[in-house]
Amino acid sequence: MGDRLKEVNYSEEKVPGYILPDPLLCNDGTRVADVFSWKAKRRPEILELFREHVYGHSFSLPVNTEFKITSSDKNALGGKAVRKEVSVYFSHRGGKYSMDILIYLSSGAKKPVPVFLGLNFFGNHTVCNDAGIKISCRWMRPDGKGIVNNRATGETRGINAGRWQVDKIIDGGCGLATIYYGDLEPDHPAGWRDGIRAFFHPQGKNAEFGPADWGAIGAWAWGLSRAMDYFVQDGDIDARRVIVMGHSRLGKTALWAGAQDERFAAAISNNSGCGGAALSRRRFGETLYHINNYFPHWFCENYKKYNDREDSLPVDQHELISLIAPRPLYAASAEEDLWADPRGEFLSAKHAEPVYALFGKPGLGVADMPPVNHPVGNFICYHVRSGKHNATSYDWEQYINFAGRHL
Ligand code: GCU
Repeated sequence: MGDRLKEVNYSEEKVPGYILPDPLLCNDGTRVADVFSWKAKRRPEILELFREHVYGHSFSLPVNTEFKITSSDKNALGGKAVRKEVSVYFSHRGGKYSMDILIYLSSGAKKPVPVFLGLNFFGNHTVCNDAGIKISCRWMRPDGKGIVNNRATGETRGINAGRWQVDKIIDGGCGLATIYYGDLEPDHPAGWRDGIRAFFHPQGKNAEFGPADWGAIGAWAWGLSRAMDYFVQDGDIDARRVIVMGHSRLGKTALWAGAQDERFAAAISNNSGCGGAALSRRRFGETLYHINNYFPHWFCENYKKYNDREDSLPVDQHELISLIAPRPLYAASAEEDLWADPRGEFLSAKHAEPVYALFGKPGLGVADMPPVNHPVGNFICYHVRSGKHNATSYDWEQYINFAGRHL
């Protein structure tokens, strides 16, 4: 697991001087001056750099997918929502693999309904206290309350409802769709053997991954795109108004999914930190050294080459945000979440502004980080909330307003 005691910098004075790669400077030295060259040349270059050096290349062959609605309740949440559960089956070389999507749609909203889509940490049944949701029987991290022998118990029903705010989302006229991230890959270094990375690999559980092959974040992000494949053919959901959202490691995943799949109308990163919204070159809080040692399965092997060598990484995270342009983007931090480097998250959004400007889209509207609980921006948005690493009702209120403004 690496050296957990390696010093962590929490002092602004100790942030080294750094030069960020310029998102508008092409690999051949020419400058992007218009939307056309951004789309045709520079955007694909940046995407490729992230694939090659950070998240790896995802499985990209067409997949045989089937959708099965396994439950549906028109009277959920006291009658104000429709709840559905959908199993998505992938078939490949004679095998089958599945993930389950839980969907709540506001019944009062004009159809089709815009939705927030995000992965969850401990099973779909944890996002809302609703006895109708199937309890996940997949492998779970042991650190959650009510997890016994790496499996969820009934005690975990609704346990993360505070992080999802389904009522607020429904009252805001939107929907929520969520998937347990462990459906795609259990989150531990050997988890890939039981996940889609082994399922799609020609050598299955004996796979050896190349230096630029996908890691777990790539696998989780791939699942978000498969949920989008389902939305496209569900007449109750407006697939042109899907906001991909995630907290923490799943915020990193939401950004990577939004960067790759332009069908997502907007992206939200909540406290995503290192390898998410935070600039790597600041080396504040968690660094590449820490993340690659504690979580060696999240990124591609090549990413490890940049441990303690952030300045030689050909990209930085503001360029991940720039891949969301011209779609609306919300990055949020928490004041006490220094491990995720709130200022580095703000600066990433700030340094993505030139790409949004190409499309005539406004930036954050401020030169420096706003005070706590003071959201800024309209198209690129940011806030730092008081409190700890979490996704709270305050965060969701801002995201629901953001969705209302843009979708
Ligand atoms: C750890 C990890 C972070 C991650 C977080 C989470 O703190 O170091 O990179 O964002 O877990 O996902 O909760």
